[in-house]
Amino acid sequence: MDVAIIGTGRVGTALARGLSAAGHRVVFGSRAARADSPVPGVPVHDHATAVAGAEVIVLAVPFASAPGLVRGLGDLGERVLVDATNPIGADTGGGTGAEVIAAAASGARVVKAFNTVGAEQMTNAAFPGGRAYALLAADDQRARDAVAGLAGDLGFEPVHLGDLSTAGHAEAAARLWIHLATASGYGRGFAIGLLRR
Ligand SMILES: NC(=O)c1ccc[n+]([C@@H]2O[C@H](COP(=O)([O-])OP(=O)(O)OC[C@H]3O[C@@H](n4cnc5c(N)ncnc54)[C@H](OP(=O)(O)O)[C@@H]3O)[C@@H](O)[C@H]2O)c1
Repeated sequence: MDVAIIGTGRVGTALARGLSAAGHRVVFGSRAARADSPVPGVPVHDHATAVAGAEVIVLAVPFASAPGLVRGLGDLGERVLVDATNPIGADTGGGTGAEVIAAAASGARVVKAFNTVGAEQMTNAAFPGGRAYALLAADDQRARDAVAGLAGDLGFEPVHLGDLSTAGHAEAAARLWIHLATASGYGRGFAIGLLRR
């Protein structure tokens, strides 16, 4: 797929590395287009250039900047917009971060994904003990399935939460991962997945 990743930080770089290795055509959208890229073969364009040819747009920027950035992209024409942000400590008006972003996104089909594990695990989410889950919430099933495919390519097990109103579970799961990694002292070298019998 043609994927534009907005943000060249930790999450953007990890996803770009994994998705390009899986054969997707990936570009970065950045506040500063430049010739050097954190991921070889993934060009760094300005935001508008990056999203112009993208089927899937991934938001890998601080939550506080996301609604304004998305509004600035204009009409996204039903493209898939992946919200990988976490509204840590942000005012979301009592709703979820995903709903705030969806309200700002003109036309796009928003999917909450890739927010529940540390960035360094996103390039390859297949662990010796099993696959990390990728919790997905979306109103549009085809958009969700497209992102589930990308998640599977990164080694995740896609797990469907429900429509976008369920994105709060993914945002709570991120808070749990952060708590375990930091306050509980487990560090960043783990992920959470489903066990079955
Ligand atoms: N780090 C994690 O382990 C992790 C895991 C899951 C989810 N998340 C979430 O994913 C998002 C990105 O996290 P990150 O760790 O990748 O952050 P990061 O390393 O700080 O990178 C964020 C990138 O966003 C862009 N950016 C920064 N400020 C901006 C602004 N005011 N307006 C527009 N773009 C801006 C920058 O890219 P350019 O300079 O190229 O514009 C920056 O490199 C956050 O919402 C975070 O909560 C993080």
